[in-house]
Amino acid sequence: MKDDFVAACEILDRARRVLLFTGAGISTESGIPDFRGPDGLWSRVDPADFTIGRYLNDPELRKRRWRMHLDGELWGSRSVVRPNRAHHAITDLWRAGKLSGVVTQNIDGLHQEAGVSDDHVAELHGNIRRAHCVGCGEDWATTEVLARVEAGEADPMCLDCGDIIKTSTVMFGEPLPMNEWGTALVMAAQAEAVLVIGSTLGVFPAADVALEPARRGVPMVIVNLGPTEHDHLARVKLDGMAGELVPQLAQAVLGR
Ligand code: APR
Repeated sequence: MKDDFVAACEILDRARRVLLFTGAGISTESGIPDFRGPDGLWSRVDPADFTIGRYLNDPELRKRRWRMHLDGELWGSRSVVRPNRAHHAITDLWRAGKLSGVVTQNIDGLHQEAGVSDDHVAELHGNIRRAHCVGCGEDWATTEVLARVEAGEADPMCLDCGDIIKTSTVMFGEPLPMNEWGTALVMAAQAEAVLVIGSTLGVFPAADVALEPARRGVPMVIVNLGPTEHDHLARVKLDGMAGELVPQLAQAVLGR
């Protein structure tokens, strides 16, 4: 492992710009469950309940979903979740000018909470802190919609056009936000190394942002607890906790 750690530091040190690609595993130490880890969300709820088709056609599902947000079960704006040491270490790398950008699959907004400016974070699966009308596109802070739910509107509709409201996260069956996708591809094109943290790299097209550079020879370092679906493409794989390994990598690379 020590040799792997040294090799990872050399890769990250040599690269002028590193693409950061994060998944749910970077936020578990902040108290947010991942999806496919040992007690991941998909072991407790049916992913099919998170498809856009069901959400739009099933008022009872929408009411359950708003209730879960209100009770903080979906770590939304009501949950008091804070960035952890891995997020802060990434911010240190970003502040030092080391990153071409942060591409995340997470919807928790914790990279921005840790200090990375919003325009340097590409949120491929959206952000749970915003909500919008599926009809006219009007959007609000999720807290504003939850205040309506708390006041008794179990399935709040758009006040402008009367259509359905959903949090601005990408559900299965929905396209990725094109602006975020475009930003992510620019960040990937500028990268001379890729650092993946806390993802099984099994969901597409998101995972391609990290895998495409690796396939054309850009060295990829993976920090993950357990296997990912593409460990074979990594130049170095560090199997362990992000909250431990990422600060150590950042300190080594920044010479602190
Ligand atoms: N440190 C390092 N790795 C961790 C930690 C940790 N503290 N905690 C969990 N992990 C690992 C898990 O073992 C798992 O391999 O992080 C990985 C998380 O993988 P997933 O749960 O599949 O999450 P992710 O890759 O982000 O999923 C991608 O799938 O369901 C969709 O939209 C959802 O964005 C999500 C996408």
